[in-house]
Parts: sequence; C-alpha cells; structure tokens
Amino acid sequence: MKPIVKALSSRITVRTYERAMTYALLREEFPETQTLREYPDKPAIWSAAIEAAGGREAPITYVEFGVYDATGSFRYFLENNTDPSSIFIGLDSFHGLPERFGKVGAGYFDLGGVVPKVEDPRATLIEGWFKDTWDELYARIAGRDRLLVHYDADIYSSTLFALARMELLRKPYIALFDEFTGPETLATYNYRQAFGAKLEMMGKITVHGYAEQVLCRIVPHGS
Ligand SMILES: C[S@@+](CC[C@H](N)C(=O)[O-])C[C@H]1O[C@@H](n2cnc3c(N)ncnc32)[C@H](O)[C@@H]1O
Repeated sequence: MKPIVKALSSRITVRTYERAMTYALLREEFPETQTLREYPDKPAIWSAAIEAAGGREAPITYVEFGVYDATGSFRYFLENNTDPSSIFIGLDSFHGLPERFGKVGAGYFDLGGVVPKVEDPRATLIEGWFKDTWDELYARIAGRDRLLVHYDADIYSSTLFALARMELLRKPYIALFDEFTGPETLATYNYRQAFGAKLEMMGKITVHGYAEQVLCRIVPHGS
C-alpha cells in the first residue's frame, strides 16, 4: 500500500470500515440476498421459519440468542408451535449488550439481571454471557432435531461466537437473522470463511433496500 493511502486509511475509524464493509460483503459474498423471496413482516418470516423447521405441530428445538424480555419473537415462536415436546431456549445476559452497537453503548437492553418469567413449561431462559452458558445450552439441545436458531444479539462478536458454537452440533439447521445487514453480515461471512459452512438462503424482509431479516438453512461443513 502506498504511504499516502496508509496515512489516509489510519485516520478512518474501525467502525466506519466495518459499516462500509457490510455493503461490500452483501454485494460480493451474499448477492443472492438481492433476489430472495420477500416476506411482508416479521410474523410472516417467523411463520416461514417454523414451517421450514418442521411446522406448527412438529416437535421443534428453538434457540434464541438474545432473548431480552422474552415478549418479542420468543413469545411468537412459543405461541405458534403447539407440540408439547418442543423446547424453546432463550439466552441473554439480562444485563444488555456487552459492547457498543452503532449509536447505543454497552449495557443497552439491560434488565438489571432479572430473568423474565415465561409460564410455558416448554420454555427455558438461560442467564449469562453466551461464552459462559454454551455448555448448558449444548446439554439441552444435543441430539435433538428440527433445530431453529434465531440470531438476535445485534453485535458482531456475539453473533460470530454463537454461529461458531452451533457448528459443533454438526447438523444442518434453520437460521433466522434479525438484523442481517450490519454486524451480522460480517459475522456470517467470517463464520463461513473459517468453518466452510454452506448457507442456503430462503427469504428476507427488505428495509431501506437491504435484507434486514434473513431466513436460511445453515449446513455445517461435513454434516
Ligand atoms: C436486540 S436484543 C434482543 C431482542 C429480542 N430477541 C426480542 O425479540 O425482543 C439483543 C439482546 O442480546 C443480548 N446479548 C448480546 N450479546 C450477548 C452475549 N454475548 N451474551 C448474552 N447476551 C447477549 C443483549 O443483552 C440483548 O438483550
């Protein structure tokens, strides 16, 4: 790199690079997100995810990385699958984000460590940082089928960690990304690069011209 380009590059913030890289990655690495089937709203794409995982009456295994107060997507998935042997696991620090995300700082979404109550006996909320709770999650989901994983942790490091851990199951599964255009794009790209997984894109919701929610099937390398 020429000295002048290096000098200019060193003045641009990492956050700016990362944000700009999202759009380059979408164009070069995820071009299929342009032409994917479009869903009108979140309930529509969530329903499609349930169908893809087996259907409303099938015993599914639902995992939500970043469940917050469990009243959003978590409740929807619980209410829209009726099989008594389905399980629904939500993970969260309940102390908010571990790092800055765009304009919001670490600790955003803080619930003061209070774990929300969910009455449905099929639901389990696991409290703690993903890196500390993986063993418990693994023990609950290993060996189960019809896996549906909802990545809604917002930030790069959390999404990459979760994707890399889910790889350990060595099973294809249905995945939903809640804010694909952003840090989740980079996390998914790096995950695919590092592990050689395949992504079969299935659907999206477009916001401001870019795929925001993305539904896909992830096929880990060698599965
Ligand atoms: C956008 S909110 C989730 C919203 C929720 N899915 C809903 O439908 O309302 C993101 C959540 O991810 C959690 N989170 C992000 N990274 C995490 C990590 N590494 N460990 C635990 N929780 C994390 C935050 O605490 C926050 O509650």
